[in-house]
Amino acid sequence: MAANSITTPTPALLKVAALCGSLRRASRNRALIRCAIEICNESIPGLKVEFIDIEPLPFVNTDLEKDGTYPPVVEAFRQKILEADCILFASPEYNYSVSAPLKNAIDWASRPPNVWADKAAAIVSAAGGSGGKRSQYHIRQIGVFLDLHFINKPELFIAAKPPQSFFDNDGNVIDPDIKERLKKILLSLQAFTLRLR
Ligand SMILES: Cc1cc2nc3c(=O)[nH]c(=O)nc-3n(C[C@H](O)[C@H](O)[C@H](O)COP(=O)(O)O)c2cc1C
Repeated sequence: MAANSITTPTPALLKVAALCGSLRRASRNRALIRCAIEICNESIPGLKVEFIDIEPLPFVNTDLEKDGTYPPVVEAFRQKILEADCILFASPEYNYSVSAPLKNAIDWASRPPNVWADKAAAIVSAAGGSGGKRSQYHIRQIGVFLDLHFINKPELFIAAKPPQSFFDNDGNVIDPDIKERLKKILLSLQAFTLRLR
């Protein structure tokens, strides 16, 4: 076979469902997801990040469940998680823990059948002074029951107290170091997802 006929195999396309724990328009965590989408499109073949909006979800209420089915907006959300190969959580810390919107979304997708099960996951956080460490560990704790499998390293905790230069006024990531660290997390998530298969 001629050397120039050898081609590099195209990597399997892995879908990442990205959830943001903040509903704020200029959310820095939402900015991290936008940045992750760009990084994958530009420089990580085989990994595609899709932002999954959790704002339309109603509060969890099992009265809304009818014969094992869920409201259409919840069904659509659960289907997105089911179809994903892995998960990216980008969430602030609220009162030392997971934000309520994110916990609500996690709970809906945990209802039977638990659509989180056996998926790889990664967490990034932009929060106040803490950078979101405690919220990340609470997400990991919840993930134990849900059978999520988190990458351990690298970690990304962003203490986003102004004034700082990681984000612009619209909440876009402008810091090259954060972009590079986010890329390393995405590469780690990709490798771990492939190992789990
Ligand atoms: C209700 C509430 C509780 C918060 N509690 C914490 C906290 O415990 N630790 C912390 O570091 N930041 C805390 N913060 C600050 C947010 O994490 C911070 O503003 C973060 O950047 C918001 O993320 P966003 O830009 O994606 O909206 C809290 C904010 C709110 C609104």
